[in-house]
Amino acid sequence: MTAEHDNPAWFEDERFWNDFFPHLFSEERAAEAARIVAQSPLFRFPPGARVLDLCCGPGLFTVPLARNGHAVTGVDRSGRLLKHASSACHEAGVGAQLVEADMLDFAEHGAFDVIVNMFTSFGYFDRHEDNVQVLHNAHASLAPGGSLLIDVVGKEVLARLDERVSLSEQDGKVLIQRDTILDDWTRLRSDWFSIDGSAAARGSMTIYLYSAAELRDMLGTAGFDDVRFFGGYLGTPYDHRAERLIAVATKDVDVRGD
Ligand SMILES: C[S@@+](CC[C@H](N)C(=O)[O-])C[C@H]1O[C@@H](n2cnc3c(N)ncnc32)[C@H](O)[C@@H]1O
Repeated sequence: MTAEHDNPAWFEDERFWNDFFPHLFSEERAAEAARIVAQSPLFRFPPGARVLDLCCGPGLFTVPLARNGHAVTGVDRSGRLLKHASSACHEAGVGAQLVEADMLDFAEHGAFDVIVNMFTSFGYFDRHEDNVQVLHNAHASLAPGGSLLIDVVGKEVLARLDERVSLSEQDGKVLIQRDTILDDWTRLRSDWFSIDGSAAARGSMTIYLYSAAELRDMLGTAGFDDVRFFGGYLGTPYDHRAERLIAVATKDVDVRGD
């Protein structure tokens, strides 16, 4: 999946991220990201850890991670969102390395102690193999003993919620989201309609949906044997009360190479 593609994928469309920026990357979400980094037991990384924020967007997690003293690299394919990340780092008085790259290609052998992939930034590629490749890249990019944290909407979580259309309003900005389950619960299409003052926009994203078992299999294929699942940022179990599907996969300490 590259930019030369005749029919670009939804996530390659800068307009999509721009139109829905106020909803996706609101101040409330930025505050929530800061809270997660400060309070979540899943975010207790060793001081000075080299952290890769994979698909960092405008840096909602990059900034608090850097503020915590970690050596942070943010990777995203959107140059525009990286500019926002750069301004956010500047305003917060923190430094982070920001790299414009595709998660399908980005790998730096053994360069990171931790990789985080937050807020459903996984399962974007049409080909299942490409999504597995992202996990292979993450495995290669981790130092032995390092861990990958992936935070997505779990298939089990979505199946429990019966609401397929939702309406939210924040500071006069209205968002209607309609979710459609595709291909026998393989994928989810979310259609979004937003109204912000006199501007209206619509867009769609289609992502793979994973159960914990499916994600465990994919992580295993990519070389991760030690995988734990959580149902929330406070480290609660992935059970019938889960709100998110969070996988923490650790690379073997004695792994020889990828
Ligand atoms: C839902 S946003 C989440 C951003 C950020 N993790 C957060 O929590 O705010 C998904 C991000 O993935 C980025 N993205 C989409 N496809 C990508 C790809 N193929 N490679 C790298 N980044 C990608 C988008 O530009 C966007 O910033």
